[in-house]
Amino acid sequence: MRDREGGARVSGRAGSGPVRPAGRFLVFGAPAIGDAEVAEVVASLRSGWLGTGPKVARFEDDFKTYKGAEHAVAVSSCTAALHLSMLALRLRPGDEVITTPMTFCATVNAIIHAGATPVLVDIDPVTMNIDPQRAAAAITPSTRAIVPVHFAGRSCAMDELLEVAATRDLAVIEDCAHAIETEYAGRKAGTFGDFGCFSFYVTKNVVTGEGGMVLTSREDHAARIKILALHGMSKDAWKRFSDEGYRHYFVTEAGYKYNMTDLQAAIGIHQLARIEPNWERRRQIWQRYLEAFDDLPLTLPAPTSPNTRHAYHLFTVLVDEERAGLSRDAFLDAMTTENIGVGVHYMSIPEHPFYQERFGWQPQDYPHAMRVGRATVSLPLSPALNDEDVADVIAAVTKVLRR
Ligand SMILES: Cc1ncc(COP(=O)(O)O)c(C=O)c1O
Repeated sequence: MRDREGGARVSGRAGSGPVRPAGRFLVFGAPAIGDAEVAEVVASLRSGWLGTGPKVARFEDDFKTYKGAEHAVAVSSCTAALHLSMLALRLRPGDEVITTPMTFCATVNAIIHAGATPVLVDIDPVTMNIDPQRAAAAITPSTRAIVPVHFAGRSCAMDELLEVAATRDLAVIEDCAHAIETEYAGRKAGTFGDFGCFSFYVTKNVVTGEGGMVLTSREDHAARIKILALHGMSKDAWKRFSDEGYRHYFVTEAGYKYNMTDLQAAIGIHQLARIEPNWERRRQIWQRYLEAFDDLPLTLPAPTSPNTRHAYHLFTVLVDEERAGLSRDAFLDAMTTENIGVGVHYMSIPEHPFYQERFGWQPQDYPHAMRVGRATVSLPLSPALNDEDVADVIAAVTKVLRR
């Protein structure tokens, strides 16, 4: 292998320096930004229209077309998308919403902010997605909705979940933060439930810096979400300063400041246009990792379920201390020493003190999520990685585990 300065370098030998030389830290999740994004942002800046405007409308249309959905509303984050979807359901205090402990805190916080009570059910230990049987068993007379999270880009068992939801007429809000390209039985994630919520955060498969989208098949839901995302002001209030002349707006309820801006959409439009080559690049990296780590003492991601498309958002390995000879946290530190950025997705939700205090949840009550959360490490999987970056990640993992 050659380093960036052109010198020959042997990786993976104990006693040698870090796999990546100092000053060459590989940032976890750095996005692939092209010239088209840069030019579009500059054009927006020069146009004088930086806020919510025509580029947001175009990004919504493009996303809707990509997904084959009926309505798409762009918002400031997936957290906002989840919150507004819950509000559109008009949940009441005491209503229960079932979700997974293997998710980012935003999924659970959105339920709390909508005034409902989150109920966790453990994951399937292989897919790391919510277990439909456990979800069925957790239904009470107060249950109103289920929030499946397509973890790492792997589709949840949607047939089973929809069947569980149908038995009690429960709403389904898909958390698709990892699942832009995910499909299940030929259908795209985010179009199964009442709402599909997406993230365009910097590390996601399509990025806008910060950003999100709600998909829904119901026009009334889309209209209400749009209004709630902009202070509760009447439809198209964002046009109030346009060249069509000043328009009065009316506040119809107390809303939020959750709108996406044209600066963000300018990035998203071009990210979305490159979604397939970016997916293909991540798929190649995924394959290289699977082959390279095959004989290492790690648990690798399970094979993709038949009849699904994986979004390849997170490549997670489980570091079991007994098998690997070092703890997960020691592995994280050792990778950092090798100048490779790594992530943890996620410590299970009940590990966090707030939820323990508020709901009495304990990690051991969700043993599969606890075990995964305490062993998991996410390796870099961005389409921005070149072959040398990927080789460096492989060399670092191999070196750390073979020492
Ligand atoms: C599963 C999941 N849900 C929700 C979110 C929240 O997304 P955002 O950062 O766009 O609010 C994230 C972000 O990492 C996530 O991973």
